Amino acid sequence: MSQFVSVRNVSRTFEGRGQGVTALSDVSLDIRPGEFVVLVGPSGCGKSTLLRSIAGLDLGFSGEILAGGQPVVGPNRSRGLVFQEARLLPWLTAGGNIAFGLRAGPEEKRARVGELLDLVGLAGFEDAYPHQLSGGMAQRVAIARALAPRPTILLMDEPFGALDAFTRIKLQDALRDIWRSQNVTTVFVTHDIDESLALGQRVVVMSARPGRISQVIEVDLPYPRDRVSEAFSRYRNSLMNSFGLH
Ligand SMILES: Nc1ncnc2c1ncn2[C@@H]1O[C@H](COP(=O)(O)OP(=O)(O)OP(=O)(O)O)[C@@H](O)[C@H]1O
Ligand SMILES: [Mg+2]
Repeated sequence: MSQFVSVRNVSRTFEGRGQGVTALSDVSLDIRPGEFVVLVGPSGCGKSTLLRSIAGLDLGFSGEILAGGQPVVGPNRSRGLVFQEARLLPWLTAGGNIAFGLRAGPEEKRARVGELLDLVGLAGFEDAYPHQLSGGMAQRVAIARALAPRPTILLMDEPFGALDAFTRIKLQDALRDIWRSQNVTTVFVTHDIDESLALGQRVVVMSARPGRISQVIEVDLPYPRDRVSEAFSRYRNSLMNSFGLH
């Protein structure tokens, strides 16, 4: 399958008083298996709406979305989700949160949780409660939880948006390594230009009113990306220009 996620002529209007809000207008996008795609654009351009539609959390769109060749008709365990807030259950430990949705026996769960904590750089934190974790650690747990059922697609909506700049870069690097080792198709929403360029193989630029894809940029830079290199700056400058920023 050369197109793993296929968004075809998707439009989404939210009804309201007056004429409603067109959040997405005729958006089409094909994502390859294993690809890392970033959706970037200003507030209100429809990034979350598009991501939620791919997730199956918002089914009010017209057009068609296929994941793994199947129409998206609702949320599915093959699509893992991470949001801006970790949304951990406060009465469960890190390990408990990661294991929460797993269908497996206790031994298998324990092994899988250990594996995932290693993967996200939190080995040894199995018994920590959410209130004992920093924001960055909580997001690492959220990533582990999303990956627990071995999804083929990882959907992330500004997962690092609430973190400080240092933690954010650390998490970007961790996610990049996780993506490369797990080979999971990833769609990542951000309004941060540097973040989009640090992570994306392709950066999909969206514009608002109505929400459309205005540009798709192939980021031809090897990983790990050097954020202070000239080549990186050239991409940054060109993206800034396309948003009318200087
Ligand atoms: N449930 C809803 N009901 C009504 N309008 C909505 C709803 N969800 C989104 N919208 C509208 O659709 C447009 C796109 O919203 P969306 O949340 O997808 O943007 P976004 O790009 O994710 O923005 P942000 O960067 O601020 O998160 C906005 O104008 C928003 O007000
Ligand atoms: Mg959003």
